[in-house]
Amino acid sequence: MPLTATPRRYLMCRPTFFDVSYRINPWMDPAAGCDPKLALKQWERLRGTLLDLGHTVEEIEPVEGLPDMVFAANGATVIDGLALAARFRDAERADEAAAYAAWLEQAGLPVLPAAAVNEGEGDLLLAGDVILAGAGFRTEPAAHAEAQEAFGRQVVTLRLVDPRYYHLDTALCVLGPDNVAYLPQAFSPGSVAVLRRMFPDAIVADPADAAVLGLNAVSDGRHVVLPEHAVGLAARLDAAGYDTIGVDVSELAKAGGGPKCCTLEVRG
Ligand code: ARG
Repeated sequence: MPLTATPRRYLMCRPTFFDVSYRINPWMDPAAGCDPKLALKQWERLRGTLLDLGHTVEEIEPVEGLPDMVFAANGATVIDGLALAARFRDAERADEAAAYAAWLEQAGLPVLPAAAVNEGEGDLLLAGDVILAGAGFRTEPAAHAEAQEAFGRQVVTLRLVDPRYYHLDTALCVLGPDNVAYLPQAFSPGSVAVLRRMFPDAIVADPADAAVLGLNAVSDGRHVVLPEHAVGLAARLDAAGYDTIGVDVSELAKAGGGPKCCTLEVRG
């Protein structure tokens, strides 16, 4: 069965004010510094790659003092033309939620407020008709119920157990409506069992792939844009019929983010 790409609408935030100035995940080391100019180059390459694939990319104005705002995936969750606002765990990122909600509202999308902590598409991933929802580090289980109520879609809770894979999108990538790639070691045993039942043909990543944020990939159903160092995962995806495109995200990885973190899918 040939894999088909569907055109997507992505919201991205230029890393104008990108920096690693605090530590809210194990990837971040403020003392080690980063190169914001290189981050901008890598981000522009990623944006260009998505445009070359025929996708629409819109941009939200970056806000000074919000260095992680480049990670647009966390800004909200948008399904069926309806947005559920984000609510960040950490004070350092809290103000991003209002900025993203304002952009979505001006784009004509109704935005529902969130009561529980949810870090947008970092933890809420649409796979076919179902929302896969991460818990354990950032998004609270109460937010899973909110998402189910908001979108009228079944939400499947998956428990993350490794602090390096603090968001679901660092441990699992939705490849298409009925397939995913994931790192079993990042999940509780019960959650791995759920994933095995739901996705018998899943691509299983190994720790080396995940350690270069390989699972933080953007798929349109056929093309998978992933960090270039995830060579093992790329080979497995290629063998399964996907077209993989490697991008260098070394600077963004210093904040714990990759290609997927930089894109928020705006689903009509
Ligand atoms: N420094 C950010 C944080 O820890 C990285 C967010 C990455 N985004 C994602 N969707 N995984 O919150």
